[in-house]
Amino acid sequence: METNIKRIAVLTSGGDAPGMNAAIRAIVRMAAVYNIEVVGFYGGFKGILDRDYEPLDTRRVANILKQGGTILQTSRYPCFKDKEVRKQALRILDDLKIQALIVIGGNGSYSGASLLAKESNGKLKVIGIPGTIDNDITGTDYTIGFSTALSTVTEYVDKIRDTASSHNRVFVLQVMGRHCKDLAESVGLTCGAEWILIPDHEYDLDAIVSSISENARLYRSQRKTHNLIIVAEGIKMPAQVKASGVPPVTYIAAELRNRGIECHIDDVGYAQRGGTPSPEDRILGTRMGAFAVEELLKGKNNKAISIRNGILTSQVSLSQAIMPRSNQNVHLLTLAHLLSHG
Ligand code: F6P
Repeated sequence: METNIKRIAVLTSGGDAPGMNAAIRAIVRMAAVYNIEVVGFYGGFKGILDRDYEPLDTRRVANILKQGGTILQTSRYPCFKDKEVRKQALRILDDLKIQALIVIGGNGSYSGASLLAKESNGKLKVIGIPGTIDNDITGTDYTIGFSTALSTVTEYVDKIRDTASSHNRVFVLQVMGRHCKDLAESVGLTCGAEWILIPDHEYDLDAIVSSISENARLYRSQRKTHNLIIVAEGIKMPAQVKASGVPPVTYIAAELRNRGIECHIDDVGYAQRGGTPSPEDRILGTRMGAFAVEELLKGKNNKAISIRNGILTSQVSLSQAIMPRSNQNVHLLTLAHLLSHG
């Protein structure tokens, strides 16, 4: 190992994601292998400013592998956009003799981490681990939490489908994911949704109405009994609708009703962020946490841990990782759409 790091800090920031605890556990226990001390800051970047931290030993992280949420708690901390606040954070980290910081979070958290890395001029080593249900980090195939959220939303939509089928109803369902299509697209596929509306893509409300009408006709002959429309929270909407704060699901339902289609709306809501992490997220969190420590010891700084085709890497910089993730590859969406009619 090339560096002489003796004290690492870890924090979780932004929306919590199942599997974050697996990453924390792996960081603490892998660090212990190298006799490195780990402290955990509570409540994200704010915890640094509040000096709200706790030394984490290998016992402290026992029994957390299967826990949803994050034992370190989290927050969104807009004050961190202020350079003076970041300067103060760097002073505190220096005062606490912290030589490296691992930030587990999504896009917004990576922005803060990237600025800290730049502004410390190499004194503080910073590594990001992608923890978000949105799967919106560039350079990694998966983020920690996506797999669990997909299972949770799948289970939820399956239940809606049961009632929709029984009542011959149209449901418009909103799922999280911010500007990323992945959660909406994948759940559309896992649940056989008739329509999936995703960010950056146009949608044709009249075509949706025609297909619902066609399905209503089929109902009489072949008992086609439901229509599910999955709506990503980041879909395109007219500017004034967006500005007024109307949720996408409400907007789409109103447009369908204006066209004579009766429909129910549902928002999966915050439950999609919780729950016990899936085996995939436990494995991903564990692998990424352990890898982050090893990469720090090799002298890596200002890097985002990623997984590409099953292989862990730290090639992507934090600033590259926050470049908008493309929603252009719609292979799954096309497939889901092709197979959902029948
Ligand atoms: O980033 C995770 C996420 O759950 C997004 O999907 C969603 O847009 C956002 O967080 C909600 O944020 P908050 O918890 O601040 O309401």
